[in-house]
Amino acid sequence: MDYSTIILDKKDNIAVLTLNRPEKLNALNNQTLIEMKDALTSVQHDDKIYVLIITGSGKKAFAAGADIEELNKLNVLSGKKFTELGQSVFSQIENLGKPVIAAVNGYALGGGCELALACHIRLAAEGVKFGQPEVNLGIIPAYGGTQRLSKLINKGRALEYILTSEMITVEEAFRIGLVNRIFSENELLPEAIKMGQKIASKGQVAVKMCLKAIVTGNELSLKEGQHIEASLFAVLCGTEDFKEGTGAFLEKRQPVFHNK
Ligand code: COA
Repeated sequence: MDYSTIILDKKDNIAVLTLNRPEKLNALNNQTLIEMKDALTSVQHDDKIYVLIITGSGKKAFAAGADIEELNKLNVLSGKKFTELGQSVFSQIENLGKPVIAAVNGYALGGGCELALACHIRLAAEGVKFGQPEVNLGIIPAYGGTQRLSKLINKGRALEYILTSEMITVEEAFRIGLVNRIFSENELLPEAIKMGQKIASKGQVAVKMCLKAIVTGNELSLKEGQHIEASLFAVLCGTEDFKEGTGAFLEKRQPVFHNK
């Protein structure tokens, strides 16, 4: 598929998906979501890619939300399709089976904030602002934001930000656990790649299982989550990477994983 609203670059086990409509602050329109779905499937099936980074082009925005021009035309039926498409793309990110890092380079508003929330790790540039301003438009966050934000930063805070539509500064986002780390604008993408490379140097079967345990477990009770954790741990005990990792420690050398 040819892309007109995103760019997908793949290099050294890392893929970078860049939202590329800077003149519209990378607002997510239907075409962007369809292209993202295609790019995510390509990353998912590409055995050479271990980590995905999502960022925005231009200096101003990661993504300033769903495209309001398209939103304005929705009715009840098309509104349902609209939210289901966005939800399915963002759930595909969360369940990609490979770590996804958001490199938030500018405004992350509405669907842009929800996109960052669907990623596993969020890095952000100085001065960036997050927010869920949907009530200003007479709607609610509906790409998973009402669910993921309250799980990530707690119910009371999520309600405050969603009901008041107040923007969240990057410092506040860091303080409340919405953002993992803050970098200067120029450092952001290189640091995201550096983090991606660090993860890519680990045994990828274990990385995959960590994601599965944490992402799936987040939906479950402690007891159910621990059941899954134990099963995944047991599976890992049968892998070559487990023998290599533990063996390398005992032999006082660096492990060489073959992801088996
Ligand atoms: N959908 C469609 N177009 C959008 C957009 C969105 N979510 N956000 C920004 N744009 C467009 C603007 O319409 C403008 O296009 P134009 O130059 O053709 O008029 C362009 O992007 C630049 O935006 P502008 O508003 O001029 O930039 P700004 O620096 O003055 O303000 C924001 C930046 C982010 C504060 C402002 O654009 C904004 O509030 N955007 C909407 C945020 C929102 O409500 N998102 C939730 C959607 S569910």
